[in-house]
Amino acid sequence: MKLPFEIDRRAFIASLGGAAAVAMMDHEARAEALEEHTESRLDELVAQRGGGTGAGAGQADRPFPTVAELDAQIETRATRRGVGNLFVAGGGGRTVKRLEKLPDRPTLQDFFKLRFAPANHVLQSATRAMKTGMTEEVILACLLHDVVHALVKTDHGWWGAQLFEPYVPEKTSFAIRYHQALRFYPDEQAGYEYPDLYYRTFGSDYTPPTHIQETYKMVRKHKWYMEPRLVTVNDLYAFDPNAIVSLDPFIDIIGRHFKQPKEGLGHDNSPVAHMWRTIINPDAPL
Ligand SMILES: [Fe+2]
Ligand SMILES: [Fe+2]
Repeated sequence: MKLPFEIDRRAFIASLGGAAAVAMMDHEARAEALEEHTESRLDELVAQRGGGTGAGAGQADRPFPTVAELDAQIETRATRRGVGNLFVAGGGGRTVKRLEKLPDRPTLQDFFKLRFAPANHVLQSATRAMKTGMTEEVILACLLHDVVHALVKTDHGWWGAQLFEPYVPEKTSFAIRYHQALRFYPDEQAGYEYPDLYYRTFGSDYTPPTHIQETYKMVRKHKWYMEPRLVTVNDLYAFDPNAIVSLDPFIDIIGRHFKQPKEGLGHDNSPVAHMWRTIINPDAPL
């Protein structure tokens, strides 16, 4: 299969944790990493073709589908659209991959490396937040805002906030929870427009459900409105397939604001430990 893009060697090596990390991998691990990298690049390209507004976004020539057309596709699929990425074969592959074991006391960084990788979109959005001088709570929210896609996509703002709530500042989980609703509502002043990607994802004639409308009204008047709003602003410009990103610039912010449990995520008996355990082992049958 000819790829519609070149593999960026530098980005690929960076996504694996740098040259030193690559040198430690055996041939098979490298081949597998390359395959995964290619898939994620493809994913990005697909998202971008959907009309992402990132720099250099290739506009799809297909018209946006209607809600009815998207609805008619439901029975053409083997999986539902809200399924978490860990549970389906990525990049059009027919089988899922064996997952690497996490350490006994896994940290957020371990999850980024072994379950959320390459996490390109969230890293890009956090990088932009950092460059534009946003608060550390907002930068952290950008870094975490979509990683729950590994587990589930439906209502991912709420799932994502819940996953992180015991460990992050309240403003950060607020921003993660409500970015989902705010994405449907433009705010010119804040620099946020309705994304073309959403016309393609939800349908050109889509109206958000009642819980999203009500949530928007509530958050619009909230004193923390700008926290999730800034997540949406960075979200909009974080689909550049050529961006080179890494978790390294965020290690200090994680250190300052993410309360890593000493037992490790998933083993701390928190109300959300089971969610982390599911991410650790999505192969568990029950
Ligand atoms: Fe999101
Ligand atoms: Fe996002």
